[in-house]
Amino acid sequence: MNFAGSHILSIDQFQREDILKIFATADIMAPYALRKSQTRVLEGAILGNMFFESSTRTRISFGAAFNLLGGEVRETSGFSSSAIVKGESLQDTARVLSGYSDIICMRHPTEGSVADFASASRVPVINGGDGHNEHPTQALLDLYTIQSELRAQGRSLDTLRIAMIGDLKFGRTVHSLVRLLCLFTPARIVLVSPAELSMPAELVEALRSAGHDVFETDNLNQGISEVDIVYSTRIQEERFPSAEEADLYRGNFRLNQAVYTANCEPNTVIMHPLPRDSRAEANELDSDLDDNPNLAIFRQTDNGVLVRMALFALIFDVAHLVERYASDLPWRSTRRGL
Ligand code: NCD
Repeated sequence: MNFAGSHILSIDQFQREDILKIFATADIMAPYALRKSQTRVLEGAILGNMFFESSTRTRISFGAAFNLLGGEVRETSGFSSSAIVKGESLQDTARVLSGYSDIICMRHPTEGSVADFASASRVPVINGGDGHNEHPTQALLDLYTIQSELRAQGRSLDTLRIAMIGDLKFGRTVHSLVRLLCLFTPARIVLVSPAELSMPAELVEALRSAGHDVFETDNLNQGISEVDIVYSTRIQEERFPSAEEADLYRGNFRLNQAVYTANCEPNTVIMHPLPRDSRAEANELDSDLDDNPNLAIFRQTDNGVLVRMALFALIFDVAHLVERYASDLPWRSTRRGL
Protein backbone atom coordinates (compact mmCIF):
# COMPACT_ATOMS: atom_id res chain seq x y z
CA MET A 1 0.00 0.00 0.00
CA ASN A 2 0.97 3.63 -0.28
CA PHE A 3 1.32 4.78 3.33
CA ALA A 4 1.70 8.48 2.56
CA GLY A 5 -1.40 10.31 3.75
CA SER A 6 -3.33 7.07 4.41
CA HIS A 7 -5.79 6.32 7.16
CA ILE A 8 -4.99 3.27 9.31
CA LEU A 9 -8.40 1.78 10.09
CA SER A 10 -8.16 -1.98 9.77
CA ILE A 11 -5.57 -4.71 9.45
CA ASP A 12 -7.41 -5.76 6.29
CA GLN A 13 -5.90 -2.84 4.39
CA PHE A 14 -2.39 -4.33 4.64
CA GLN A 15 -0.45 -6.87 2.63
CA ARG A 16 2.34 -8.87 4.21
CA GLU A 17 5.05 -6.63 2.68
CA ASP A 18 3.41 -3.56 4.28
CA ILE A 19 3.76 -5.18 7.68
CA LEU A 20 7.42 -5.98 7.04
CA LYS A 21 7.96 -2.34 6.04
CA ILE A 22 6.34 -1.13 9.28
CA PHE A 23 8.53 -3.50 11.30
CA ALA A 24 11.73 -2.46 9.48
CA THR A 25 10.83 1.19 10.10
CA ALA A 26 10.10 0.44 13.78
CA ASP A 27 13.62 -1.02 14.09
CA ILE A 28 15.22 2.29 13.08
CA MET A 29 13.24 4.14 15.77
CA ALA A 30 14.98 2.40 18.69
CA PRO A 31 17.75 5.00 19.34
CA TYR A 32 15.16 7.78 19.60
CA ALA A 33 12.73 5.83 21.77
CA LEU A 34 15.64 4.77 23.98
CA ARG A 35 16.68 8.46 24.33
CA LYS A 36 20.14 7.93 22.83
CA SER A 37 19.48 10.59 20.20
CA GLN A 38 16.65 12.87 19.12
CA THR A 39 15.04 13.60 15.78
CA ARG A 40 12.94 16.61 14.76
CA VAL A 41 11.67 15.13 11.51
CA LEU A 42 8.01 15.98 12.31
CA GLU A 43 8.75 19.42 13.77
CA GLY A 44 5.70 21.67 13.33
CA ALA A 45 3.22 18.82 12.79
CA ILE A 46 0.24 18.45 15.13
CA LEU A 47 -1.37 15.20 16.26
CA GLY A 48 -4.97 15.41 17.47
CA ASN A 49 -5.41 12.59 20.00
CA MET A 50 -9.14 12.01 20.43
CA PHE A 51 -10.05 9.30 22.88
CA PHE A 52 -13.77 8.88 23.54
CA GLU A 53 -13.16 5.74 25.58
CA SER A 54 -10.76 5.11 28.46
CA SER A 55 -7.15 4.60 27.52
CA THR A 56 -3.78 4.82 29.18
CA ARG A 57 -1.06 3.25 27.04
CA THR A 58 -2.56 3.67 23.59
CA ARG A 59 -3.25 7.39 24.04
CA ILE A 60 0.00 8.20 25.78
CA SER A 61 2.15 6.10 23.47
CA PHE A 62 0.63 7.66 20.35
CA GLY A 63 1.40 11.05 21.88
CA ALA A 64 4.90 10.09 23.00
CA ALA A 65 5.68 8.57 19.60
CA PHE A 66 4.64 11.79 17.89
CA ASN A 67 6.66 13.89 20.35
CA LEU A 68 9.70 11.65 19.83
CA LEU A 69 9.57 12.53 16.13
CA GLY A 70 9.46 16.23 17.00
CA GLY A 71 5.71 16.81 16.59
CA GLU A 72 3.17 18.32 18.98
CA VAL A 73 0.06 16.75 20.48
CA ARG A 74 -3.40 18.13 21.28
CA GLU A 75 -5.78 15.92 23.21
CA THR A 76 -9.38 15.44 24.10
CA SER A 77 -10.59 12.64 26.36
CA GLY A 78 -14.13 11.37 26.91
CA PHE A 79 -17.43 12.62 25.53
CA SER A 80 -18.20 15.07 28.31
CA SER A 81 -15.47 17.50 27.26
CA SER A 82 -16.46 17.39 23.58
CA ALA A 83 -19.28 19.01 21.57
CA ILE A 84 -20.62 15.53 20.81
CA VAL A 85 -22.65 15.90 24.04
CA LYS A 86 -24.34 18.90 22.35
CA GLY A 87 -25.48 16.63 19.53
CA GLU A 88 -22.70 17.25 17.03
CA SER A 89 -22.23 14.39 14.57
CA LEU A 90 -18.94 12.54 14.38
CA GLN A 91 -18.58 13.71 10.80
CA ASP A 92 -18.94 17.39 11.72
CA THR A 93 -16.45 16.87 14.53
CA ALA A 94 -14.10 15.37 11.93
CA ARG A 95 -14.57 18.32 9.55
CA VAL A 96 -13.68 20.73 12.34
CA LEU A 97 -10.84 18.89 14.05
CA SER A 98 -9.09 17.97 10.84
CA GLY A 99 -8.65 21.71 10.32
CA TYR A 100 -6.63 21.87 13.55
CA SER A 101 -4.36 18.83 13.17
CA ASP A 102 -2.16 17.11 10.60
CA ILE A 103 -3.17 13.63 11.76
CA ILE A 104 -5.74 12.27 14.21
CA CYS A 105 -5.67 9.18 16.42
CA MET A 106 -9.06 8.18 17.68
CA ARG A 107 -10.73 5.67 19.99
CA HIS A 108 -14.49 5.30 20.22
CA PRO A 109 -16.87 2.74 21.81
CA THR A 110 -18.85 2.09 18.61
CA GLU A 111 -17.78 -0.35 15.90
CA GLY A 112 -17.16 1.43 12.60
CA SER A 113 -17.18 4.91 14.18
CA VAL A 114 -13.54 5.65 13.47
CA ALA A 115 -14.03 4.81 9.78
CA ASP A 116 -17.13 7.04 9.78
CA PHE A 117 -15.09 9.87 11.30
CA ALA A 118 -12.26 9.26 8.82
CA SER A 119 -14.63 9.54 5.86
CA ALA A 120 -15.18 13.22 6.71
CA SER A 121 -11.64 14.00 7.91
CA ARG A 122 -9.27 16.09 5.82
CA VAL A 123 -6.23 14.46 7.46
CA PRO A 124 -5.20 10.82 8.04
CA VAL A 125 -6.96 9.05 10.91
CA ILE A 126 -5.54 6.13 12.90
CA ASN A 127 -7.92 3.75 14.62
CA GLY A 128 -6.98 3.44 18.31
CA GLY A 129 -9.85 0.99 18.89
CA ASP A 130 -13.47 1.09 17.71
CA GLY A 131 -15.75 -0.88 20.02
CA HIS A 132 -15.17 -4.62 19.78
CA ASN A 133 -14.21 -4.35 16.13
CA GLU A 134 -10.50 -3.64 15.69
CA HIS A 135 -7.36 -2.22 17.27
CA PRO A 136 -4.89 -2.40 14.39
CA THR A 137 -1.89 -0.69 15.98
CA GLN A 138 -2.10 -3.01 18.99
CA ALA A 139 -1.98 -6.03 16.67
CA LEU A 140 1.03 -4.55 14.90
CA LEU A 141 2.93 -4.04 18.14
CA ASP A 142 1.87 -7.51 19.28
CA LEU A 143 3.20 -9.21 16.18
CA TYR A 144 6.36 -7.08 16.29
CA THR A 145 6.84 -8.30 19.87
CA ILE A 146 6.10 -11.91 18.96
CA GLN A 147 8.71 -11.72 16.22
CA SER A 148 11.36 -10.19 18.46
CA GLU A 149 10.68 -12.61 21.34
CA LEU A 150 10.92 -15.60 18.99
CA ARG A 151 14.10 -14.22 17.42
CA ALA A 152 15.66 -13.89 20.86
CA GLN A 153 15.07 -17.65 21.24
CA GLY A 154 16.50 -18.43 17.79
CA ARG A 155 13.04 -19.06 16.35
CA SER A 156 10.86 -17.32 13.79
CA LEU A 157 7.26 -16.53 12.87
CA ASP A 158 7.40 -19.39 10.36
CA THR A 159 6.92 -22.00 13.10
CA LEU A 160 4.61 -19.98 15.33
CA ARG A 161 2.35 -21.70 17.88
CA ILE A 162 0.13 -19.28 19.81
CA ALA A 163 -2.73 -19.54 22.31
CA MET A 164 -5.18 -16.64 22.69
CA ILE A 165 -7.06 -16.72 25.95
CA GLY A 166 -10.09 -15.08 27.51
CA ASP A 167 -12.73 -12.83 25.99
CA LEU A 168 -12.23 -13.59 22.31
CA LYS A 169 -15.73 -12.38 21.46
CA PHE A 170 -15.38 -8.75 22.50
CA GLY A 171 -11.57 -8.40 22.51
CA ARG A 172 -10.68 -6.12 19.60
CA THR A 173 -6.96 -6.75 20.03
CA VAL A 174 -7.33 -10.45 19.26
CA HIS A 175 -9.68 -9.66 16.36
CA SER A 176 -6.98 -7.52 14.76
CA LEU A 177 -4.25 -10.03 15.65
CA VAL A 178 -6.16 -12.83 13.93
CA ARG A 179 -6.56 -10.70 10.80
CA LEU A 180 -2.83 -9.99 10.91
CA LEU A 181 -1.84 -13.64 11.33
CA CYS A 182 -3.87 -14.41 8.19
CA LEU A 183 -1.10 -12.62 6.25
CA PHE A 184 1.65 -14.85 7.63
CA THR A 185 2.86 -18.44 7.40
CA PRO A 186 0.33 -20.97 8.70
CA ALA A 187 0.64 -21.42 12.44
CA ARG A 188 -0.85 -23.53 15.21
CA ILE A 189 -3.48 -21.31 16.81
CA VAL A 190 -5.28 -22.34 19.99
CA LEU A 191 -8.32 -20.30 21.00
CA VAL A 192 -9.11 -20.68 24.70
CA SER A 193 -12.40 -19.18 25.88
CA PRO A 194 -15.76 -20.07 27.36
CA ALA A 195 -18.06 -21.09 24.48
CA GLU A 196 -20.12 -17.90 25.01
CA LEU A 197 -17.02 -15.72 24.49
CA SER A 198 -15.50 -17.54 21.55
CA MET A 199 -13.79 -15.92 18.57
CA PRO A 200 -16.33 -14.73 15.96
CA ALA A 201 -16.94 -17.53 13.45
CA GLU A 202 -15.90 -15.43 10.43
CA LEU A 203 -12.48 -14.81 11.98
CA VAL A 204 -11.98 -18.51 12.75
CA GLU A 205 -12.97 -19.20 9.16
CA ALA A 206 -10.49 -16.58 7.90
CA LEU A 207 -7.70 -18.29 9.84
CA ARG A 208 -8.61 -21.71 8.45
CA SER A 209 -8.83 -20.34 4.90
CA ALA A 210 -5.35 -18.88 5.34
CA GLY A 211 -4.11 -22.39 6.17
CA HIS A 212 -3.76 -22.11 9.95
CA ASP A 213 -4.40 -25.08 12.24
CA VAL A 214 -7.05 -23.75 14.63
CA PHE A 215 -8.14 -25.46 17.86
CA GLU A 216 -10.90 -24.12 20.07
CA THR A 217 -11.11 -25.19 23.71
CA ASP A 218 -12.33 -24.01 27.10
CA ASN A 219 -9.52 -25.83 28.90
CA LEU A 220 -6.74 -23.43 29.91
CA ASN A 221 -4.16 -26.04 30.96
CA GLN A 222 -4.52 -27.94 27.71
CA GLY A 223 -4.61 -24.77 25.62
CA ILE A 224 -1.30 -23.40 26.90
CA SER A 225 0.63 -26.67 26.82
CA GLU A 226 2.23 -26.70 23.38
CA VAL A 227 2.65 -23.11 22.29
CA ASP A 228 5.42 -20.54 22.02
CA ILE A 229 3.18 -17.59 22.91
CA VAL A 230 0.39 -17.34 25.46
CA TYR A 231 -1.66 -14.20 24.76
CA SER A 232 -4.00 -13.53 27.66
CA THR A 233 -6.83 -10.97 27.54
CA ARG A 234 -9.18 -9.19 29.93
CA ILE A 235 -12.93 -9.81 30.11
CA GLN A 236 -14.21 -6.73 28.24
CA GLU A 237 -16.76 -5.88 30.93
CA GLU A 238 -17.70 -2.57 29.30
CA ARG A 239 -19.10 -4.46 26.28
CA PHE A 240 -21.40 -6.76 28.30
CA PRO A 241 -25.09 -5.92 28.72
CA SER A 242 -24.59 -5.93 32.52
CA ALA A 243 -21.82 -6.17 35.11
CA GLU A 244 -23.44 -9.38 36.44
CA GLU A 245 -23.01 -11.05 33.07
CA ALA A 246 -19.33 -10.08 32.92
CA ASP A 247 -18.94 -11.48 36.46
CA LEU A 248 -19.89 -14.92 35.17
CA TYR A 249 -16.63 -15.11 33.23
CA ARG A 250 -14.26 -13.05 35.36
CA GLY A 251 -11.43 -15.15 36.79
CA ASN A 252 -12.18 -18.21 34.65
CA PHE A 253 -8.71 -18.35 33.11
CA ARG A 254 -6.08 -17.37 35.61
CA LEU A 255 -2.46 -17.74 34.66
CA ASN A 256 0.03 -17.74 37.51
CA GLN A 257 3.51 -19.17 37.98
CA ALA A 258 2.24 -22.55 39.24
CA VAL A 259 -0.11 -22.98 36.26
CA TYR A 260 2.68 -21.87 33.93
CA THR A 261 5.23 -24.29 35.41
CA ALA A 262 2.79 -27.20 35.35
CA ASN A 263 1.60 -26.72 31.78
CA CYS A 264 3.81 -24.49 29.61
CA GLU A 265 7.02 -25.33 27.82
CA PRO A 266 10.03 -23.69 29.55
CA ASN A 267 10.37 -20.70 27.20
CA THR A 268 6.73 -19.94 26.48
CA VAL A 269 6.37 -16.18 26.17
CA ILE A 270 3.52 -14.53 28.09
CA MET A 271 1.78 -11.57 26.48
CA HIS A 272 -1.29 -9.42 27.21
CA PRO A 273 -2.43 -6.20 25.53
CA LEU A 274 -2.96 -4.73 29.03
CA PRO A 275 -4.49 -3.53 31.21
CA ARG A 276 -4.45 -6.86 33.07
CA ASP A 277 -7.29 -6.92 35.56
CA SER A 278 -5.42 -7.36 38.84
CA ARG A 279 -8.49 -7.34 41.08
CA ALA A 280 -8.73 -10.51 43.17
CA GLU A 281 -11.89 -11.71 41.42
CA ALA A 282 -10.23 -11.53 37.98
CA ASN A 283 -6.44 -11.66 38.15
CA GLU A 284 -5.98 -13.22 34.71
CA LEU A 285 -2.21 -12.69 34.87
CA ASP A 286 -0.94 -13.02 38.42
CA SER A 287 1.75 -10.66 39.68
CA ASP A 288 3.75 -13.74 40.76
CA LEU A 289 4.69 -13.95 37.07
CA ASP A 290 6.40 -10.56 37.23
CA ASP A 291 9.83 -12.12 37.82
CA ASN A 292 9.37 -14.64 35.01
CA PRO A 293 11.80 -13.56 32.25
CA ASN A 294 9.30 -14.79 29.66
CA LEU A 295 6.72 -12.23 30.75
CA ALA A 296 6.87 -9.86 27.77
CA ILE A 297 4.03 -7.48 28.67
CA PHE A 298 6.22 -4.46 29.31
CA ARG A 299 8.42 -5.18 26.29
CA GLN A 300 5.10 -5.10 24.40
CA THR A 301 4.23 -1.64 25.74
CA ASP A 302 7.72 -0.34 24.94
CA ASN A 303 7.46 -1.75 21.43
CA GLY A 304 4.18 0.15 21.00
CA VAL A 305 6.14 3.39 20.82
CA LEU A 306 8.44 2.06 18.07
CA VAL A 307 5.57 0.76 15.96
CA ARG A 308 3.54 3.96 16.33
CA MET A 309 6.60 6.08 15.46
CA ALA A 310 7.02 3.89 12.36
CA LEU A 311 3.42 4.45 11.29
CA PHE A 312 3.72 8.21 11.70
CA ALA A 313 6.99 8.27 9.75
CA LEU A 314 5.44 6.26 6.91
CA ILE A 315 2.19 8.26 6.78
CA PHE A 316 4.15 11.53 6.67
CA ASP A 317 6.60 9.92 4.23
CA VAL A 318 9.67 10.85 6.27
CA ALA A 319 11.04 7.44 7.26
CA HIS A 320 14.10 8.08 5.06
CA LEU A 321 14.68 11.49 6.69
CA VAL A 322 14.56 10.51 10.36
CA GLU A 323 18.34 10.28 10.66
CA ARG A 324 19.01 13.48 8.70
CA TYR A 325 16.96 15.40 11.28
CA ALA A 326 18.69 13.68 14.22
CA SER A 327 20.96 15.34 16.76
CA ASP A 328 22.60 14.59 20.10
CA LEU A 329 20.51 14.92 23.21
CA PRO A 330 21.94 17.62 25.50
CA TRP A 331 20.78 15.63 28.53
CA ARG A 332 21.35 12.07 29.69
CA SER A 333 18.51 9.60 29.75
CA THR A 334 16.92 9.36 33.18
CA ARG A 335 15.46 5.95 32.42
CA ARG A 336 16.87 2.97 34.29
CA GLY A 337 17.22 -0.55 32.96
CA LEU A 338 18.17 0.34 29.37
C1 NCD B 1 -6.95 -2.98 24.95
C2 NCD B 1 -8.11 -2.25 24.30
O1 NCD B 1 -8.38 -1.10 24.65
O2 NCD B 1 -8.69 -2.86 23.42
N1 NCD B 1 -6.06 -2.14 25.60
C3 NCD B 1 -5.06 -1.56 24.88
O3 NCD B 1 -5.30 -0.71 24.04
N2 NCD B 1 -3.81 -1.96 25.08
C4 NCD B 1 -7.33 -4.17 25.73
C5 NCD B 1 -8.30 -4.03 26.87
O4 NCD B 1 -8.78 -2.94 27.18
O5 NCD B 1 -8.56 -5.05 27.52
